[in-house]
Amino acid sequence: MPSFDEKNAYIEKGDDVFFDDGREVELLHFIHNKPDIDSIRGSPQRVLQAIDEFARTKKYLMNVGQAKGKIVTDLIEEVKPETMVELGGYCGYSCILFGDAVRRSGSSSARYISLERNPEFAAVIMCLVALAGLSDTVKVVVGSSDASINRLHASGELKHIDLMFLDHYKPAYTTDLKLCEQLKLITPGSVLAADNVITPGNPPYLEYVRSSVAEKREAAKQGPVEGDGVDPRFPGRTTQQYAKRLGQAKLEHTAKGNPNLVYESRINHSFEPTGEPDGVEITRCTGEEK
Ligand SMILES: C[S@@+](CC[C@H](N)C(=O)[O-])C[C@H]1O[C@@H](n2cnc3c(N)ncnc32)[C@H](O)[C@@H]1O
Repeated sequence: MPSFDEKNAYIEKGDDVFFDDGREVELLHFIHNKPDIDSIRGSPQRVLQAIDEFARTKKYLMNVGQAKGKIVTDLIEEVKPETMVELGGYCGYSCILFGDAVRRSGSSSARYISLERNPEFAAVIMCLVALAGLSDTVKVVVGSSDASINRLHASGELKHIDLMFLDHYKPAYTTDLKLCEQLKLITPGSVLAADNVITPGNPPYLEYVRSSVAEKREAAKQGPVEGDGVDPRFPGRTTQQYAKRLGQAKLEHTAKGNPNLVYESRINHSFEPTGEPDGVEITRCTGEEK
């Protein structure tokens, strides 16, 4: 397993050595070859332990991990979402951890929708979700988050989001949030949990969710950022992170959002599974100004 410094060095070089090199399918073989596989079946906790074991002893995986995961599972217990949506599923760690928490805390119709752009990663998620016995609660949707949100909304399958976990392409946090606001999927009462707001960081998103209604109305008059649509405050490696095989879709800036929504937002400091400091921004939509 690479050390933390090696990991940073690789990311600095722009290599995608930490994912999409076959390790995600390797994870499936690792788990299914375990001698105690029958005791893992139907147990979300044991599937998570097996993923953690692979990430600790074999190869790094970009999972949310236990420390930051606890912040979100506590939030799920409090919010008891009927519908929770995740942006970015990878191998299914957060999907299994949070999908299980949603099943325990909510009604029998409570569901967890994971939006994952890479079809191979989505297949890995589906396989591990089935192994964990969560297929009745969890739905995995393959495709770019903005296209999936639009499609699920248009079909009537997604009418409201009670809790949303943002953990995908960093520049898309704000554009996808605005899309959800515009479609009225995010309304007063909705709660957002955004990962990685310290490492690698997401200044445009924090600025947006911490702004007052007056500030958002003013910013909305100025229109979208120029160029490829990505805020220049993001380092190049953040914007290239997922471009290896699929290319990174152009960000849609057509959604103006709803600047009238009132947010209360604060950071919960925690750590990456590597020990690196990070934080989850918890944002509550508390009202709407007319
Ligand atoms: C940090 S990983 C997610 C980790 C996962 N939430 C966990 O904790 O187990 C980010 C994931 O977002 C996916 N992704 C990147 N851009 C996306 C987009 N526009 N729509 C949907 N998924 C995207 C990547 O393929 C990758 O699997």
